[in-house]
Amino acid sequence: MDQALDLSGNKMTDLGNGHAVIEYGSPWGRPIARWVPSWGEEKREVIERMRKHLVQRFGEDRGLRMAENSRNMIIFPNLVINDIMAITIRTFQPEAADRMTVNAWALGSRDEDPDLRKLRLFNFLEFLGPGGFATPDDQEALENCQRGYRNAREAAWNDISKGMPRVGPPKNDDEEQMRCFWREWRRRMSAAA
Ligand SMILES: [Fe+2]
Repeated sequence: MDQALDLSGNKMTDLGNGHAVIEYGSPWGRPIARWVPSWGEEKREVIERMRKHLVQRFGEDRGLRMAENSRNMIIFPNLVINDIMAITIRTFQPEAADRMTVNAWALGSRDEDPDLRKLRLFNFLEFLGPGGFATPDDQEALENCQRGYRNAREAAWNDISKGMPRVGPPKNDDEEQMRCFWREWRRRMSAAA
């Protein structure tokens, strides 16, 4: 099966009311059913079986889309579901104007192959978790943004304009999903009481 198959990936869907999801083909392994060489040949067969099962159950398009594509979803205002190299759910609870608590959970399917479960949890630990490769830099960036907002009098905006001039549907890295969030935020905050 062609691992590089570009399905319906690389797009953004405005789900309305501030909710949005991006979807894209991704280079990493996905324990649901996308094998990568670093997982070793011995895991290849079980993953191929799972892919076939997905295709049987959901049809070729949807099954392969589930296996191959990653997605990041914001449910307005403070719930994020990332279905990438593992599935993580995050919530964001404001505690003060300049402070919030982020909680994260890792999700896996029941009766998962124990080795794949291990990979899933390693992916969470090594990439998505608070000490992982992906998350501390984001928090550093967010904290730096927050520091920057003290200059709101001089610069009363936050640039999330990437992809705005694009003609045609937005792509997954166009920041349009962030604009969906902030449009809803503005709509609610400026609504008549
Ligand atoms: Fe990051």
